[in-house]
Amino acid sequence: EEIEKGGYDHFMLKEIFEQPKALSDCLRGRINAEEGTVTLGGIEGIMDQLVNARRIIIAACGTSWHSGLVGEYLFEYLAKVPVEVEYASEFRYKEQLIGEGDVMIVISQSGETADTLAALREAKSRGALVLGVVNVVGSTIARETDAGVYIHAGPEIGVASTKAFTAQVTVLTMMAIKLGLYKKTIDNKEAKKLIGELAQIPAKIEEILESTDEIKEISNLFSYAPNFLYLGRSYSFPVALEGALKLKEISYIHAEGYPAAEMKHGPIALIDEMMPVVVIAATQHTNDKMISNIEEVRARKGRIIAITNPGNEEVEDLAEFKSIVPETMDVLSPLLTVIPLQLLSYYIAVNRGCNVDQPRNLAKSVTVE
Ligand code: G6P
Repeated sequence: EEIEKGGYDHFMLKEIFEQPKALSDCLRGRINAEEGTVTLGGIEGIMDQLVNARRIIIAACGTSWHSGLVGEYLFEYLAKVPVEVEYASEFRYKEQLIGEGDVMIVISQSGETADTLAALREAKSRGALVLGVVNVVGSTIARETDAGVYIHAGPEIGVASTKAFTAQVTVLTMMAIKLGLYKKTIDNKEAKKLIGELAQIPAKIEEILESTDEIKEISNLFSYAPNFLYLGRSYSFPVALEGALKLKEISYIHAEGYPAAEMKHGPIALIDEMMPVVVIAATQHTNDKMISNIEEVRARKGRIIAITNPGNEEVEDLAEFKSIVPETMDVLSPLLTVIPLQLLSYYIAVNRGCNVDQPRNLAKSVTVE
């Protein structure tokens, strides 16, 4: 096992650091920035059906559900198709309005999650086209879907998902760009820009990983906080959920992710000088609004930890602590902003002496419904 960990203390840390490679593997041979094209062998044959989709329903569990939420923003923004994201376990017990003309995308690292498999079977039996975004090659979900795209992240051992999340989001980004090109909701010039930026993501993650010391210091200060709040808007909202989930899973600290503006309808009541509030403020189009949310937290003496871009002075001035991620296009920002949050939860869990790779009560693959 020590050999498999490749010199890292835990699989989770190894997998966090593997993300530049995992994403390069995921992108390899699939994108061409010069031509502005995306080639995804697994779905080339069903593109006509995808183009005509009335709506896309994304079904998944856990971290994969969070990448589905990012997918919702991606498909709606780039391909102008309505998207609903369902917890696979809830989808089954709703009125089944899915049918022909609908496309379901199931997202699963393991390809074995029972609820996700059940949602896929339900959708398929009602005539929907079902696509998979899966890591484990030949898994049940990969086999039962009509078509799909593997994320090629390599084996993920740590129970808390890290590289699978970013690779899932990478695949969803490629799918959304491809669909946008087919539907002409984006043009070749936009595609070239998006793909060019996407190609730079692995190197930008590398940059973030080189400055883990800042995050370590923040972790040392907050390892014994009883609660955490994570706030984000738009593309950063699913990242807030994912950051909170990572912390809960491995450090057993209660954490909530919230859409930043929704904070005033509840969680703001919890904010005092004891409450660490992680704000993800790394998207241009929501920056002003995020700044006013950060001011609201500050007015109540919350301890602000900001994930932001270089030169965002207003955010830096308001935050007590910061972690800087390189700039990218807003739509691609979750691929970068999630990295410091993975590291934050990892170092806090280590400080607390938790079993990082095998947290209590959790399983890597949940095969019961
Ligand atoms: C479990 C794992 C999570 C994972 C979820 C969905 O809860 O601990 O890390 O996100 O299942 O798993 P899947 O394999 O379907 O992505």
